[in-house]
Amino acid sequence: MGYQLSDITTLLAEGLKAFADASTPDRLEEARRKYLGGKGLAKAVLGGVKDVPKEQRGEFGKAANLLNKQLEEACAAAKARVGDAKPVAAGLDLTKPGTKHELGHQHIISQTIREIVDIFSRIGFAEVEGPEVEDEAHNFEKLNIPQGHPARNEQDNFYLRVAGPDWEGKPVPLLLRSQTSTIQVRTMERQQPPVRVIAPGRVYRPDTVDATHHYMFHQIEGLAVDKGITFGDLKSVLELFVREYFGANAKMRLRPHYFPFTEISAEVDISAEMFSHLKKPWLEILGCGMVHPNVLRAVGYDPEQVTGFAFGMGVERIAMLKHGIPDIRHFTANDMRFLRQF
Ligand code: DAH
Repeated sequence: MGYQLSDITTLLAEGLKAFADASTPDRLEEARRKYLGGKGLAKAVLGGVKDVPKEQRGEFGKAANLLNKQLEEACAAAKARVGDAKPVAAGLDLTKPGTKHELGHQHIISQTIREIVDIFSRIGFAEVEGPEVEDEAHNFEKLNIPQGHPARNEQDNFYLRVAGPDWEGKPVPLLLRSQTSTIQVRTMERQQPPVRVIAPGRVYRPDTVDATHHYMFHQIEGLAVDKGITFGDLKSVLELFVREYFGANAKMRLRPHYFPFTEISAEVDISAEMFSHLKKPWLEILGCGMVHPNVLRAVGYDPEQVTGFAFGMGVERIAMLKHGIPDIRHFTANDMRFLRQF
């Protein structure tokens, strides 16, 4: 090997510096291996003693032993300073890589609701909610859907137990609400005009589940009632919503329709130009209209004094359109590969 005494002096200086500089257990371990390890430099020097000419061997051997001793002391001192790279206590290894906790995020339905509600909040609509278990008065009667109307069919609604009896001694059937329009009624019962609310929530219908139907989905309801509200107001609010949500060049049209709780009634379609995944030219996104005088009367408003507009949209439908989601069942399947995309 041919180490000289001067090599030992240099090695000692370098080694002491390496231990003094070691600021982490990893760096210390690196220095320990380099100088004191089985194949380390200090061991190599010791191993070289036997090759030194006899007359210098004694002095060289002493220096080699001293080198080892001093480096071992420096190593021990450094260990005390930065801690050991080995486990410090059974079961606790501070040097192990940490467990990475994945942060969750909002479900795409919640994100969609937030985004839509925010748009209406910015133009003065207050967010409200209503109960998912409703009575027939709020789900039907006061929305101008009288007894015997086909929408009240037992097969088309999730009727629950019967509460009651009411003040006439009649039982009160309850059901899972089939539309968020119930919140229109509950809001107007609570307050006097002017009213401007936006109301998201779950609704339930006993539909057979397929790519576009589910027994539970979400709607967002809007309502504005005041003196002198016109269909023109409704149209400008909806145009603003469509541009804000779907983009500045989104086109919409109003198409005459029928709903029991509005007169006149319309559906809003948006142009499919912007959605490359769709073939139809127009896509229905919501129902709307001027609040029916019977609905205003049912909550004690005077239709001669105030008018209003209302609209309702399906959240899943809108999210599917915007993001090109082909199947409504994805929303509830809890497949992380789907959920992580949003
Ligand atoms: N409630 C209707 C539905 O579930 C949607 C709707 C249509 C709501 C017209 C409205 C409206 O407020 O004015 O299909």
